[in-house]
Amino acid sequence: MHDLDSPIAFFDSGVGGLPYLEAARRLLPAERFVYLADRAGFPYGTKSPERVRDLAVGAIRALVAKTAPKAVVIACNTATELAVDAIRADTPGLIVVGTVPAIKPAAALSRVRRIGVVATEAAVAADYLTGLASAWAADCELVRIGDAGLVDFVERRLLGSTRDERLRAVAPSVRAMLERGVDVIVLGCTHFLHLSEEFGAVAGPGVSIVDSRDGVAARLASRLDEEGLRGSVGARRTGGCPDRRDAESDRPGEPSDRLFLTGAGDPGPVYGGFAERFGLSWAGCLP
Ligand code: DGL
Repeated sequence: MHDLDSPIAFFDSGVGGLPYLEAARRLLPAERFVYLADRAGFPYGTKSPERVRDLAVGAIRALVAKTAPKAVVIACNTATELAVDAIRADTPGLIVVGTVPAIKPAAALSRVRRIGVVATEAAVAADYLTGLASAWAADCELVRIGDAGLVDFVERRLLGSTRDERLRAVAPSVRAMLERGVDVIVLGCTHFLHLSEEFGAVAGPGVSIVDSRDGVAARLASRLDEEGLRGSVGARRTGGCPDRRDAESDRPGEPSDRLFLTGAGDPGPVYGGFAERFGLSWAGCLP
């Protein structure tokens, strides 16, 4: 069973959810977090809806069994679009917050009423996106670009890449959207938030780059408030504990927020590097 001090669980097929975790930490500094990357199931964006649903439900079930969180954030557009109902049905009584492309804020920004969405193939093809577009941007043209190569770049090659390599990686998708005259680009895959700055640099000053990290963090905070589940660790912190992350860790000096991976084996240099960059300590393999 969970309570106020239970962790909040973040889930993605890989490292895409990490910028979302970071935004939630900023808004909810008293909370503890756990993060699961479905390393064994990655990538989701080129798989069938049924396969994505089975992978996401299974991985989240294992994470919930292991960490008894008070809330789950699906920090993956593809898993949310294709599997949020199945995930909710499998986790009764738990707060589940999804992540979908930020079409509503994009529609508020677009002057030319043309919005680019760059995401996985599965996410751009999903009916869910069509539903979002007709709900929030009915008078806008939506330019949908699926970029599996960019997902792979972020997951496997981002760390250690040069700025030039990163700019080259985002360029084809950005150009395809600019050719269609968009003035707003929605980062509809969580992996792409690691390249927000590069998207902005290639698109130029006339184009807004929009993502959903602050919206997801705000939604998480309001769901915790609705359920009376905001963490109380902050009270301890103001009571003389200067750094919760170090003070609450199993091992002194290690961050208390934990990283899990599906599949076998240690995190290796890539996940190890991301764990270090985002202040997570390696906690083991699931299920
Ligand atoms: N990060 C994911 C998303 O937001 C999916 C990446 C993948 O596994 O293809 O859609």
